[in-house]
Amino acid sequence: MALQNPIMPASGTFGFGEEVAAFAGMDLSRLGAMVGKTATLEPRDGNPQPRICECEGGMVNSIGLEGKGIDYILEYNVPFMASFGVPIIFNISGFSLNDFALLAQKANSVKAISAIEGNISCPNVEGGKIPFGSTAKAASEVTTVICEVTDLPVIIKLTPNVEPKSMIGEIASAVEEAGADAISMINTVKRQNIGGIPFCGLSGPPIKPIALELIKIVLEQISIPVIGMGGISCLEDVLEFLQLGCSAVAIGTANFSNPLIMMEIINGLEKYCQDNQIYDLTQLRGIVE
Ligand SMILES: Cc1cc2nc3c(=O)[nH]c(=O)nc-3n(C[C@H](O)[C@H](O)[C@H](O)COP(=O)(O)O)c2cc1C
Repeated sequence: MALQNPIMPASGTFGFGEEVAAFAGMDLSRLGAMVGKTATLEPRDGNPQPRICECEGGMVNSIGLEGKGIDYILEYNVPFMASFGVPIIFNISGFSLNDFALLAQKANSVKAISAIEGNISCPNVEGGKIPFGSTAKAASEVTTVICEVTDLPVIIKLTPNVEPKSMIGEIASAVEEAGADAISMINTVKRQNIGGIPFCGLSGPPIKPIALELIKIVLEQISIPVIGMGGISCLEDVLEFLQLGCSAVAIGTANFSNPLIMMEIINGLEKYCQDNQIYDLTQLRGIVE
């Protein structure tokens, strides 16, 4: 999959682009890729309010995969995303292996979709409600079922909420072995009782060190590309993730405080490359020990 630049939105922080497209100065055709909010099989109301809250340095959320369901998204949101002419990474999540298979099958039949991103942070209802992404076995199984039903590139999105931390390497290796074409990471970091939300996920600058640490472990164990995310809010952060070895990056929470951040970073990266005689991002990638 070729991207015009390595900058894309992180799933769930950008809707399907409809609202942000209206901002003056926003040109979605300049993104490296479009990434929509997670699609589930059925429409979901999500969790009760409050479910989003600004906290020191970042934000917490507990959206609970609200959405109109995959059929609606494919019919109404994907054509809008496709109108910008950049690759669409279609994010899916299920509560069983069968959900993932059906979701991937549906996405596979839509021409405008360039890749499938499996969000494996949600609980496996057939597996003791433990998130798919927290064991190598479940992560591998879900990767296998997605890969079986699609010819599209498959990206598996890892959760940082694994114990011990080093387990993330095993999970990533299992996902690679099961056929994934890339890994994206990290999803939000589990927290409790912030802003009146009993169980929530932390995102934004406070999780950047966690993202970098876990991505480093993963990069040492796999050879497929990693799309890095977690707290990226400026060009310097992007360079840090690329220099660590990421192939592309996603920007999430920063979109809420500055909806034009991705445009600014794309401009900044272009200028940085021109000023530093960087003609190919491989010159930057993985240069940090
Ligand atoms: C409000 C909100 C909603 C999110 N929804 C999703 C989602 O639907 N699917 C998903 O895979 N990740 C979702 N995420 C996680 C982000 O895509 C991203 O992995 C995480 O926030 C870390 O990046 P950041 O620190 O740049 O926000 C969501 C994050 C936030 C803040």
